[in-house]
Amino acid sequence: PLEKKWLFASLALVAVFLGSIFYTAFERNIHPPSHVETVDSAKLHLGGEFAEDKLGVVGQADGSVRVTLVAGRYGFYPRQMSVPAGRPVTFRIASMDVLHGVHVPMTNMGTMVVPGYVAQVTTVFPKPGEYPMLCNEYCGMGHDHMWSRITVV
Ligand code: CUA
Repeated sequence: PLEKKWLFASLALVAVFLGSIFYTAFERNIHPPSHVETVDSAKLHLGGEFAEDKLGVVGQADGSVRVTLVAGRYGFYPRQMSVPAGRPVTFRIASMDVLHGVHVPMTNMGTMVVPGYVAQVTTVFPKPGEYPMLCNEYCGMGHDHMWSRITVV
């Protein structure tokens, strides 16, 4: 009888784990990256999508918004951005140096930013306000201070 209890307990745990995977996937719309796109971290400043003068918020023809960012010790550049509420916002982020993480609390916007790869996440901000964009992968002495501000209007 004791063995049966443990068997049920472990099966219940498996159900909880599977349930949380399905919950995050289908209810919260959080998915692993579905495409792999490389970029030369050392050459971001030399031109292309992640050059300094191309960064920031650009409205698309279909009403969505694209935000191009560079992560580097210790900030997400540009440091301040303004995006609309209730419309899809696609972030495209490249690291100029080491591994960073990007996280916007209270949204499904969260991903690692691996040097050499483009991190892409789409989210919808439900309501206007100020949102911090934080680094959640330890990246050096300034990690605690690595954040930018998103103003949702
Ligand atoms: Cu960037 Cu921690």
